[in-house]
Amino acid sequence: MQNSLWLQNAETISSDTLSTSVDCDVCIVGGGLSGIYTAYLLAKKGVNVVLLEAKSAPAIGTTGHSTGKLTPQHGVIYSKLLKFFSTEDVYTYYQTNKNAIESALKVASDDSFERVDSYLYATTVPGKQTIEKELYAYKELNIPGVETTETELPFDVTLALKMENTAQIHPTKFATHFLNLALKEGAAVYTNSRVTKVEIDEKFVLTENDSKVTFKKLVLCTHYPIESIKGLITTKLSIDRSYLLASQADNLLKGHYLSVESSSRTIRTALIGDTPYFIYGGSSHIAGEVENTQTYYETLKDEMQTTFNVPEPPFLWSAQDPNTPDLVPYIGQISEDTPDLYIATGYRKWGLSSSLVAGEILSSLTTNEDHQAAHLFSPTRDQFGKNFLKGLSTIGFVTANLAEGYLTRMEAPKCTHLGCKTRWNDGDETWDCPCHGSRYDKNGNVIEGPAVYPLKMKK
Ligand code: FES
Repeated sequence: MQNSLWLQNAETISSDTLSTSVDCDVCIVGGGLSGIYTAYLLAKKGVNVVLLEAKSAPAIGTTGHSTGKLTPQHGVIYSKLLKFFSTEDVYTYYQTNKNAIESALKVASDDSFERVDSYLYATTVPGKQTIEKELYAYKELNIPGVETTETELPFDVTLALKMENTAQIHPTKFATHFLNLALKEGAAVYTNSRVTKVEIDEKFVLTENDSKVTFKKLVLCTHYPIESIKGLITTKLSIDRSYLLASQADNLLKGHYLSVESSSRTIRTALIGDTPYFIYGGSSHIAGEVENTQTYYETLKDEMQTTFNVPEPPFLWSAQDPNTPDLVPYIGQISEDTPDLYIATGYRKWGLSSSLVAGEILSSLTTNEDHQAAHLFSPTRDQFGKNFLKGLSTIGFVTANLAEGYLTRMEAPKCTHLGCKTRWNDGDETWDCPCHGSRYDKNGNVIEGPAVYPLKMKK
């Protein structure tokens, strides 16, 4: 059962449900950190912006289920990006993330973040070699990084790579602060207002109660493009699910950690009120692929209690992250044919810094300003051509799941997005769709899109 540490006693803001027709310059769909930060930056510029969130409060979905790490050290990334992009573009990726983080931290509330160092660590010889390659990329790109074998972890590491002076946040506090700033700057925010229809040519969206928002520009911060926008973008994204647990701890770490071995583990601490917590996670798999997810929680729980000597974790939650084939998020115009339609998705597991980057790029592009990193993050960039086979494998995966579901899960409810059979997830007690990652609660209500309509449940 989902029980995120970040949603305990978190102060969230619930706004009115949209119940009339409104006009705006920019309509943002999705009230996670991307939508909130974009709304804040746009409202600060004097743009008339409307933010629509399907849930009862903003920032309680993916943002409220993240690790809370805010860093440009996105796992092993720079050595991989150099295979796809020029040195200049890879450095732009680093610098854009770094600048977006630092700009946001200047305005963030003091109690929503803390400065820490980010570490990649390895406990095996192959892991050490992976870090050495990443370190080589840091040197080539002039990214500051420190090679070390000294960490706070209670076991030896074969090598670690430290990026100093990054940050970690309480994600719901952090996002709620920016939502308050957006509201003060004049943004209109509506909760319980799920968008069920998008009319691009006529420039309006309808919410589930048929309220209408007419826009000049539309920004989709919903992870996956919502149901009414179908197209190649759905073949470019694969979705991963991973797990997090939190227990009370005796002390706080000065860094946050990520292992580079294939079964990666993430580690950080957090002070909530006066209580220190230890947060541990990992065990990534393709979303919707696994029924017995409880075993992932159990494995992590055993490791956490044995290795770090912490009590039974009262908080267990999972997160879902879309990935692009070339590892860089899609942020910008969704296609050249639809110049007023923008998207932000494909953050992998680095949604917090990517959300801030998205806010900066989208608030520039929707007000006809250039952004120096827009070409790199553009959803229309040509790297997809180079990754065509990977894209095809995503199509193949969806097709296989569509067929397999009808053969093996006849009784499972049919996803209301494009009709794949869902799969019961026993750990989180949800119906998960393996095709594009829609999720439904046990009663069939949508938790996560692209689906916008509930499941038709058999009695
Ligand atoms: Fe696309 Fe279920 S999410 S078919």
